[in-house]
Amino acid sequence: MKFDFDTPIERDKSDSIKWKLLHKKFGYEDLLPLWVADMDFAIAPPIQAAIARRNQHPVYGYSLRPQTYYDSFTHWLQKRHNWQIEPNWILDVPGVVPAINFCIQALTNPDDKVLLFSPVYDPFFKAIKLNQRSLEVSNLYLENNEYRINFAELEEKLKQGIKMILFCSPHNPVGRVWQRDELVKLANLAIKYQVLIVSDEIHFDLVFSPNKHIPLASLGSNIAQQTITLTSPGKTFNIAGLGGGFAVIPNKITFALLKNHLDKNALHLGNPLTTAAYQAAYQDGEEWLEALLEYLYENYKFVKEECENLGIEVTNLQGTYLAWLNFSHFGLSQTHLEEIIYKKAKLGLVSGTQYGSNGKGFMRLNFGCPRQYLQTALQRLKVIFPF
Ligand SMILES: Cc1ncc(COP(=O)(O)O)c(C=O)c1O
Repeated sequence: MKFDFDTPIERDKSDSIKWKLLHKKFGYEDLLPLWVADMDFAIAPPIQAAIARRNQHPVYGYSLRPQTYYDSFTHWLQKRHNWQIEPNWILDVPGVVPAINFCIQALTNPDDKVLLFSPVYDPFFKAIKLNQRSLEVSNLYLENNEYRINFAELEEKLKQGIKMILFCSPHNPVGRVWQRDELVKLANLAIKYQVLIVSDEIHFDLVFSPNKHIPLASLGSNIAQQTITLTSPGKTFNIAGLGGGFAVIPNKITFALLKNHLDKNALHLGNPLTTAAYQAAYQDGEEWLEALLEYLYENYKFVKEECENLGIEVTNLQGTYLAWLNFSHFGLSQTHLEEIIYKKAKLGLVSGTQYGSNGKGFMRLNFGCPRQYLQTALQRLKVIFPF
């Protein structure tokens, strides 16, 4: 393979949260960290080269984002996601999670109902609660080892006056890449009940063939008018620590409200290293990404097969590098499961209930790492399971 995903890279000397905050998170030091959603791989050579080129210039003053930066993003959306956008729909944001919070602050009022699909990435819950909005939960349900949206229940909730939906597509932590019919149903309901959708599509490039990511807003102009799409190359290209992102907003009023909110908080400036890295990722990162996806898929297959030999189910995964492990049939309390995983197996996995109460019985495992880490993880699980 042209790119080396196999050789471990020491990260515990790099202030990596994943590697350095084990004790704080789990109460133990010597765990194998498979939690925070970044990967233990070196970044793509074109990104390394772009950052090195920028670093040859010794001044890091206030910097603009050149037109080529935006062009690289729009070209990527067109080429990889078949979505043609207008340049004036793009708003720069400092990160996807900050942008979710800004959307809530700028586009809803205190006590408005904001809905999410649980289990979901925990900052969704925090964004609603910390901004004093009213949390509405629609539980995903498992069918044939795959999570689905309960559309009948969703419609009942929408009838009660939901202002905004936080949508995760592809979905962290359950690894779903939403299919066209599901997206159309969601879009039709959002249009019928005039609900805004904040569509977090940060994992949109981490999709395994034959699955295909469809940007929600690309379905048609009506739903595009009600959708704020948030994304970045942070996850895909393992550059999340640089910070940055894009909001794509076709609706002029929504765009102006969000822009005004960013302006009020003086959040317009970019970081020259982020700009260089993002542009290189979108211009020259495709070959690396294809190799990454192949490697990740083999990792997923390895984890799934090996876990299932131990009686641990792994839900069918279509995208992301986050496997969702189902221990529920062992009948353990969540605290007991955590104790087994952290204390006995010495694995830093994220407890399922971090993503909502229906995550009980589950653990999230980040397989964006050299395969030998996963071999170690499975050896450790083998000592304990089947339980
Ligand atoms: C669904 C989702 N959204 C957003 C983020 C983080 O985005 P950012 O680092 O741009 O705030 C993550 C990181 O794990 C994520 O999984």
